[in-house]
Amino acid sequence: MRKYFVLFVSASILLLLGACSNASSEAGGGHKMVLAHNHPTDHPVHKSLEKFKEEVEARSDGDMSIALYPNGQLGDEREVIELTQTGAVDVTKVSAGALESFRPEYSIFGLPYLFEDTDEFKEKMSDPEITDVIYNASEDIGFVGLTYFDAGSRSLYTRDRVVDDTEDMEGLKVRVQPSATSVAMIDALGGTPTPMAYGEVYTSLQSGIIDAAENNLTSLVSSKHGEVAKHWMYTEHAIVPDMLIMNKQRLDRMTEAERQIIHDSADAANKFHEVVWNEATEAAAEEAQNEMGVEFHDVDKSSFIESVQPLHEEMKADETMGPIYELFKGGDSDEES
Ligand code: GCU
Repeated sequence: MRKYFVLFVSASILLLLGACSNASSEAGGGHKMVLAHNHPTDHPVHKSLEKFKEEVEARSDGDMSIALYPNGQLGDEREVIELTQTGAVDVTKVSAGALESFRPEYSIFGLPYLFEDTDEFKEKMSDPEITDVIYNASEDIGFVGLTYFDAGSRSLYTRDRVVDDTEDMEGLKVRVQPSATSVAMIDALGGTPTPMAYGEVYTSLQSGIIDAAENNLTSLVSSKHGEVAKHWMYTEHAIVPDMLIMNKQRLDRMTEAERQIIHDSADAANKFHEVVWNEATEAAAEEAQNEMGVEFHDVDKSSFIESVQPLHEEMKADETMGPIYELFKGGDSDEES
């Protein structure tokens, strides 16, 4: 029932937006843009998107403006990506995991234990020779990447099972992002993958449709998963960033100077995010432990790392993904993979 209501409200908003954005984009060269995402307004990503909006509006002296639609008001991640392709939404923030079914290049981030740690991830993501390939991969399907937001490393959390190694994964129903790489990962680890949209995870954990999920620390608090999942295992199996993507035509219709404003503002938001993200992650761990009673467990990662090696081999051998794997890992020793 709620889903139909959300769809109805989204459809109405979109009809209105469609009417406005067509008109506004022509008006005096100004650009009124719609930005949609699925996090609540107290989430660090929302704060970074507010920063993006502020920067765009200030740098263009108000000639360009952005209306933010948080909380999945305009749909789940798959839906808003589709809306960004058509241009009904101009800019959106979605997880790289959700983008994987649109462009395979994004599946690199879902490959478990690809990066040694977040430092290696950030180093790779600061190299334009790498990021340009990813950001431009979707040009022909209607959108491009502007920047990324660090979403930390993802770990496993369960309603009531403590997991020490992959033997404990047997029969564990784990929610994964709707992405083939995430499904393959949980399969390889011995659990039972259940792909679903992020917005359904809380009730599915609560009702026992799933036993577990995997995400970053902020999910425990900002989406309140810590109320219904009481064990967090530091598996740190993947570093899947959030991506800021934009409708390609909209960007192409802008002047060179306006495009520069968009890119500079995205860079500023990325830097701002580094600070708010770290603060939010630390606060989330404390709150989950002290106020929600979540127990935190270290795990021996070796059985996890070993179980997913075939996924690395498969990706290296893939025609499209082999070169992307090489781009991220070429020149590195194999020790962490
Ligand atoms: C992260 C990410 C979200 C995404 C979610 C998921 O929290 O920031 O954009 O929806 O993971 O697991 O689906």
